[in-house]
Amino acid sequence: MSRVAIITGAAKGLGYACAERLARDGTSLMLIDVDQASLAAAAAQLGSAGAVVCTALADIRSQDACRGAVAAAVERFGRLDVLVNSAGVYPRRPVLEITAEDWRFVFEVNVLGTYFMMVEAIAAMRTSGHGHIVNVSSIDGFKAHPANAHYAATKAAVISLTRSLALEVAPLGILVNSVAPGPMATEAAKLTDWYEPMVAALPTRQPIEPSEIANLVAYLSHPDNISIAGENIVVSGAGVIV
Ligand SMILES: NC(=O)c1ccc[n+]([C@@H]2O[C@H](COP(=O)([O-])OP(=O)(O)OC[C@H]3O[C@@H](n4cnc5c(N)ncnc54)[C@H](O)[C@@H]3O)[C@@H](O)[C@H]2O)c1
Repeated sequence: MSRVAIITGAAKGLGYACAERLARDGTSLMLIDVDQASLAAAAAQLGSAGAVVCTALADIRSQDACRGAVAAAVERFGRLDVLVNSAGVYPRRPVLEITAEDWRFVFEVNVLGTYFMMVEAIAAMRTSGHGHIVNVSSIDGFKAHPANAHYAATKAAVISLTRSLALEVAPLGILVNSVAPGPMATEAAKLTDWYEPMVAALPTRQPIEPSEIANLVAYLSHPDNISIAGENIVVSGAGVIV
């Protein structure tokens, strides 16, 4: 029986790359996103390449929406093996201009949304006694950049959340890890003013391809991974060495 993965933020960028990569292993997919048109296009593209795909238009800031999407995946496929939390927003704003609403928005998507998805997935996975969860953090969780206080705080929180939940759910057979990419060549990142200078500053001088992170996500969420848990794996072209 094929494995089943839920991927948030799957309409575009890294989430889509993870969907493509997991589909190559024969994994059935539930794609979650708020962008209806891109979600439909992503599902059509993956489906035409032979993937078994369903979608949920859901805003991960709502726990009810997360619960509904997980329930829909389990109803459709009968099980849940993997959750990849890639949905995220990365606004930049100088510290004196960040509003309380900016803080709430970025925390609700990047931290609360990740947490809601994990809680709902863990509830579904615990009955089978196994599961893999991969959260997407960032090197910004370690490394300071100007105009980035709120985003950086969310990505540090994702690493902390990963560690706490990994410890708590490993006895249930559920392994939780995070990945922390440096500047990654997604369409959204390439439109920003920080992307080119950050790539140029990497010791490798190479953009980090979403497919490279997707390969790592595929390994961390593969049944072969039975002992890597609670880790945050940095992929930064030697830009950040922890
Ligand atoms: N691109 C980079 O350089 C980079 C570097 C490090 C970390 N990251 C992280 O990687 C992840 C993916 O980044 P990306 O560049 O692929 O971004 P992207 O904008 O291409 O994709 C993010 C997807 O998440 C969806 N999304 C946003 N808010 C949502 C919500 N509330 N509910 C459901 N879906 C939602 C968007 O519609 C979009 O399809 C993010 O968590 C980001 O913080 C990106």
